[in-house]
Amino acid sequence: MPVTPSTPDPLARAPRRRSIVLCVGPGGVGKTTTAATLALRAAFRGQRVLVVTIDPSRRLGQALGFENAAAGAELAVESPAIAERGGSLHALLLDGRVVFDRLVAAYAGDPAKARAIVDNPIYRATTENLGGALEYAAIAQLQLLHAEGRYDLIVLDTPPTANALDFLVAPERIHELVNNPATRFLTGGGRLGSRLLGIGNGIVIKTLSTIGGGDFLRDLGDFLRDFSDVLEAYRARAGDFQELLTSAEAGVILTTSASPFSVREAVNFLGVLHRRGLNIDGVLLNRVLPPFAPMPTEALLLPSLERQLGDGAVAGLARVQEAYGGLRIEGEHSIAAVAMLREAYPSLAVWALPRQEPPPTSLADLHELGGRFVSMNG
Ligand SMILES: Nc1ncnc2c1ncn2[C@@H]1O[C@H](COP(=O)(O)OP(=O)(O)OP(=O)(O)O)[C@@H](O)[C@H]1O
Ligand SMILES: [Mg+2]
Repeated sequence: MPVTPSTPDPLARAPRRRSIVLCVGPGGVGKTTTAATLALRAAFRGQRVLVVTIDPSRRLGQALGFENAAAGAELAVESPAIAERGGSLHALLLDGRVVFDRLVAAYAGDPAKARAIVDNPIYRATTENLGGALEYAAIAQLQLLHAEGRYDLIVLDTPPTANALDFLVAPERIHELVNNPATRFLTGGGRLGSRLLGIGNGIVIKTLSTIGGGDFLRDLGDFLRDFSDVLEAYRARAGDFQELLTSAEAGVILTTSASPFSVREAVNFLGVLHRRGLNIDGVLLNRVLPPFAPMPTEALLLPSLERQLGDGAVAGLARVQEAYGGLRIEGEHSIAAVAMLREAYPSLAVWALPRQEPPPTSLADLHELGGRFVSMNG
């Protein structure tokens, strides 16, 4: 594997060395890929690194060793080059159920109560279907690992949400759900409050269809009471998520594409991160194309096309011009994106990663990609 540790990257240049890095951004922008790439590079710098990933593509998952591995296991990514530098890289595939099981086992109070929660049919439906459960599990997982202190750096990939904001608000919704007045009303007996119907519609319907009605309300009441006790006990012990995420140990890398729409969304999200007190260590424009030179003249293009296409050269010319025009526009997007981000946040660190063909799927690919970070701050 070629080694290029001296090229810059957003973590190497972060204002201070973090022990937690959150890779956030809207769906499909490359969070999982860039989280793995940043983790790999930090390991090459000699740090003990864990990357917590969510839904990697099958081939990237294979490269990180997830195939045939037990859910929630921390797997060593073997690399003599990393070991030589005194670093290590582990990868963990987030499994919400494993995290919740761990919380229940540790905070239910006693084994019988833990068993009652886990055996309740609603538990499975909740941990798998409830919107926000995966986000809650991701941050709880981070908090648990961080408290154990076995790694110098934990890089957390975040779940694929349409809106990057969901990641921050979803865990709060879980707490709200288990603590809202209607839930308390229900767990204390009595009529089902209208608020629960409002908040819990999705889970109620999903769960009913999963377990077929039956003792649903009694089960729901028991479950919510016990599960909320677990989450409260955990929160009392481990502290608020917000506390960890806003501490000086944690930094955020926001990944986005360079299209004007995504960049506008990124600017909004930066505002939210900022107001919530998170440390923004950089914005990463991923899969960018370099600026292209102006279109070559037809007089230059045609002879070359004639050599390749013969009689089809004239028809081919239109297609080449169209494709080239598209690439130029995309290339210009990255310049415009930097200007837009800079205008909104003048001291922001902006980075670009080129589009790699074929897309990165192996450790060697990630390594190659990791050597191609470009600082857009000059
Ligand atoms: N710099 C890059 N060059 C080429 N392909 C890339 C690059 N970064 C990511 N990709 C590809 O883009 C696709 C989406 O990437 P990835 O899965 O990392 O995104 P994501 O933000 O984690 O998505 P989701 O929100 O669904 O979790 C993948 O096929 C990946 O291989
Ligand atoms: Mg992903």
